[in-house]
Amino acid sequence: MASDKKAKKNGVNPDISDIHEYRKKLKKILKPERYEHSLSVSFTCVCLAMRYGVDLHKAEVAGLLHDCAKQFSDEELIKLCKKENVELTEDILKAPQVIHSVFGAVYARKEFGIEDKDILSSIYYHTLGRPDMSLLEAIVFVSDYIEARRFKAERLPEIRMLAFTDLDRAVYEINHDTITYLEESGGYICKDSYDTYNYYKELMKNRELPI
Ligand SMILES: [Fe+2]
Ligand SMILES: [Fe+2]
Repeated sequence: MASDKKAKKNGVNPDISDIHEYRKKLKKILKPERYEHSLSVSFTCVCLAMRYGVDLHKAEVAGLLHDCAKQFSDEELIKLCKKENVELTEDILKAPQVIHSVFGAVYARKEFGIEDKDILSSIYYHTLGRPDMSLLEAIVFVSDYIEARRFKAERLPEIRMLAFTDLDRAVYEINHDTITYLEESGGYICKDSYDTYNYYKELMKNRELPI
C-alpha cells in the first residue's frame, strides 16, 4: 500500500495494523476514561519495554488490552467465568474488583484473538501480581499503577522513577502501598496479593535493600 511505502521510507514500521484494530474495538467497548487509561498504560508499557529490553509490540498490546473486560459488572463477570469454566477461588470472590483481570485473559483470547501466553498472563496477573513475575507481567503491573493519568497514589513521583531504575523494587513498593491502603481502609486483601508482596519483600531483603 502507498501509505505503507511512505511509512517505511520515513523509517516507521507500518506493521501495526493489529494495534489499530485493537484500539478501534476497545474504544467501542470501554468507557472513554477507561479507554484513555488503557492507551496510557500501553504507552507506559512501551517505555518500560525499551528500558528492560522486552518486545515492544507485545508490551504495547498487553498494556492496551489489560482492562479489556473492565466494562462488565461483577455479576456479569461471575456469570461469564462460569460459562467459560474459569475458576474463581473463594479468595478472589471476596475481592470482585479483581475478576476483570482473571476473565480479561480469556476475553482477550476470544474477542481479540490474542494467543501469546505472556501477554495473556500479563492481563491475568495485572491486579494481584504473582511471585517471580516475567518482565512483561511486571511491566504491565507497574504501568497500570504509574501511567501518566494516575494522580491519587501518594508516592507516585517516587515510584515512577523507581520503575525505570529498579523494576522489582517498583513492584515491591506498589504492593506495599496497595496492601497498606487496603488495610487502613478495611478493604479485603487477597491471599495472592500477600504472596506477591512477600516474594518481593524477600527479594529486597536478599539484596540487602532497606524495606
Ligand atoms: Fe485492571
Ligand atoms: Fe488498569
